[in-house]
Amino acid sequence: MTKKINNNRRQFLQNSAFGAAALTAFPGMLFAKTGQLQNKATPSFKADVEIKFTSRDANIPILKKGPKTKVQKYYAELLKGPKNTLVELENNYLGPILNYVKGQKVRIYYKNMMSEPSIIHWHGLHVPQGSDGHPMYTLEPGQSYVYEFEVMNNAGTSFYHSHSHNLTAEQVYNGLAGLITVTDDEEQKLDLPRGEYDLPFVIQDRTFNAQNQLQYLHGMHGKMTGFLGETVLVNGTPDAEFSVKTRAYRLRAVNGSNSRIYKLGWDDGTPLTAIGTDAHLLPKPETRPYLMFAPGERIDLWLDFSGRAVGSKLVMYSLPYEGAMPPKMEEQRLGKKSSGGMGMGGGMMGMMSSGLGQGDKFAIATFKVTKKVSDSPKLPKTLGRFERLTERDVDNKNNPIPIGISMKPMRPQLNGKSFSMNRVLDFEKVELGSIKKIKIFHDHGPMKMKEGEKMDKDMDMSGGKMKMESGGGMGMMGGGMGGGMMFSMAHPIHLHGQQFQILSREIEGMRQEEYKTVKDGFLDTGWKDTVLVMPGEEIVIAKPFQDYKGLFLYHCHNLEHEDLGMMRQFYIS
Ligand code: C2O
Ligand code: CU
Ligand code: CU
Repeated sequence: MTKKINNNRRQFLQNSAFGAAALTAFPGMLFAKTGQLQNKATPSFKADVEIKFTSRDANIPILKKGPKTKVQKYYAELLKGPKNTLVELENNYLGPILNYVKGQKVRIYYKNMMSEPSIIHWHGLHVPQGSDGHPMYTLEPGQSYVYEFEVMNNAGTSFYHSHSHNLTAEQVYNGLAGLITVTDDEEQKLDLPRGEYDLPFVIQDRTFNAQNQLQYLHGMHGKMTGFLGETVLVNGTPDAEFSVKTRAYRLRAVNGSNSRIYKLGWDDGTPLTAIGTDAHLLPKPETRPYLMFAPGERIDLWLDFSGRAVGSKLVMYSLPYEGAMPPKMEEQRLGKKSSGGMGMGGGMMGMMSSGLGQGDKFAIATFKVTKKVSDSPKLPKTLGRFERLTERDVDNKNNPIPIGISMKPMRPQLNGKSFSMNRVLDFEKVELGSIKKIKIFHDHGPMKMKEGEKMDKDMDMSGGKMKMESGGGMGMMGGGMGGGMMFSMAHPIHLHGQQFQILSREIEGMRQEEYKTVKDGFLDTGWKDTVLVMPGEEIVIAKPFQDYKGLFLYHCHNLEHEDLGMMRQFYIS
């Protein structure tokens, strides 16, 4: 009962924020002004590239046999700009690949032609608030939005996906995503594989029913663990196969899954070499026995088939690992008998279980060597221009901004709060141009919360008055799922806006035996916008907040968690 009243009150506060009083109380800021849909082109913005985007319902042949699958899909049409700006993946639920060049001015006309609300976010691109696809710009069916931004990013791999709050997970699941590449002069000078040797590699997992239709999960329990599908797709295709020549390739891997974390590795134990993470090239290539790959992350791989026999094949796997999910939750998800006895809940969970658990081993794609050639580029010794950030570059060395991960029963949160469209906490306000130290950690239970009383001062950005949100109304009750460690699971934390660098990754609580199965797979040397935080880990990052003012989200990229409210925002001013 208490919970319901709280919710209503919160809803009321949010609604009232759109009123006229809010605008006078908080001039220069927010919703009434900033939240407006931008639906006209700005004449002074001279676009080099113009694209017309729509999202629509579609039927696509995904599985080899049987009926087509109903999906939601991005369609695009190039109105202006270089021909290769849009590359269509035929018969695919994924949207077209967008190929940008640093410095280009891009205008996108987006029309939502689905029967539900939606908005597009360009994950990895450093763009103004108004072009970032913040959920406050969510379009109702039939509405349009005009994005305008300059491509500020260096060369790298990004992606786009729907970002309408509470609908993100299901819409991405239904197909609303696509790959973005950016190139620049520096990259052009490097002898990297190009053209047919530069391959998209979008990994997603789905579950199909007997009629070939996508099955999504229902109920809170499934959302807490996140969706885990039974079929692994690469570039929208199950059992993906690539024919390759005996030379080097660049593979732009995007983890576009809702919540599955992959441990990429070759079947024959060959190590993997990465040349890029998230939206950037690495300073230099990095070789690892395997690579941990969480939702929202990108890894550009250098695959060299030189010297391999024609007719041979190599299989990329997700190798087995442990620790991303508490054993008990995993058991329950799979519908196995857990110690607590199986009530109604257990039985229902069995029905929607997936045979492929988080950390199970399975094949992702097969590479068949079909032709001998001798034109392979050599792996460069150094890659992108890179400025290493250290503690000396941040202005809050002794006072890092917290991102505390907590999992109240049925409610994963950041900094003890759920997402609220028009609110920021005191420490979520940052000055334009600053570089901040941010500490991401697991916040177990009320003990730690007490230290940061100010965490409860939640500022209503449009009302101008400080309003207190009722903290911890839910407490630790609810279900048989209470208790700190129980909820300790891996979370990929994503920050919008500019990429950040990882200053340190420390492990405290996680069982060493489990940690051993993942610890050599983190690529922390370059720019990142999404970082996998394993249970017990504490990660310190340095993040620049430059160029654009406004509201920029940070959230868990386990999309079920995001939709459950595990999202907050920074206000840059
Ligand atoms: Cu890819 Cu805010 O997300
Ligand atoms: Cu993003
Ligand atoms: Cu999460």
